[in-house]
Amino acid sequence: MSTDIRAAVPADVPAVLKLWRTSALPTSTDTPDDVRHLLRRDPGSLLVAEVAGEMVGSVIAGWDGWRGSVYRLVVDPAHRRSGLGRRLLRRAEDRLAELGVRRMHAIVVGDDARAMAFWESTDWELQGGQLRFAKGRSPA
Ligand SMILES: CC(C)(COP(=O)(O)OP(=O)(O)OC[C@H]1O[C@@H](n2cnc3c(N)ncnc32)[C@H](O)[C@@H]1OP(=O)(O)O)[C@@H](O)C(=O)NCCC(=O)NCCS
Repeated sequence: MSTDIRAAVPADVPAVLKLWRTSALPTSTDTPDDVRHLLRRDPGSLLVAEVAGEMVGSVIAGWDGWRGSVYRLVVDPAHRRSGLGRRLLRRAEDRLAELGVRRMHAIVVGDDARAMAFWESTDWELQGGQLRFAKGRSPA
């Protein structure tokens, strides 16, 4: 069965949140209001993957005018290790490149072996010397 990747619309918000709830660590902005806000602020930034109408993957490709940021790269466990994560990342990179982004980054939990194995399999460069300072609602 084919997997379609497309830009999310507001009607997708419940399915997106369900995917994140079941397939990824929680973040403080996993709320309907926050996701709708993202879609208003940057339509096209949230990409979703579907198989037979079921949401099985997501990625956020955001641009603030300075750097591109990749967030919420998530694949349903039943659909992992078939290249979908790689396809979603490529689509995110394509979107950012079309917008003129020259430098992109992603935050990865360092002790998540699976996530690290995924990112290490890509052509992205690990910047081990850099840490993140954060402010606002926790966790993540
Ligand atoms: C990380 C994640 C998105 C990968 O999705 P995926 O669809 O399974 O990834 P792919 O099938 O495209 O894998 C690409 C490559 O990554 C590496 N990889 C992915 N998962 C791996 C694992 N569990 N163990 C070892 N290597 C892994 C492999 O090199 C793989 O290539 P291969 O299958 O040909 O060996 C998925 O595991 C996930 O949703 N995890 C929870 C959320 C998360 O941690 N997101 C990333 C943080 S931003």
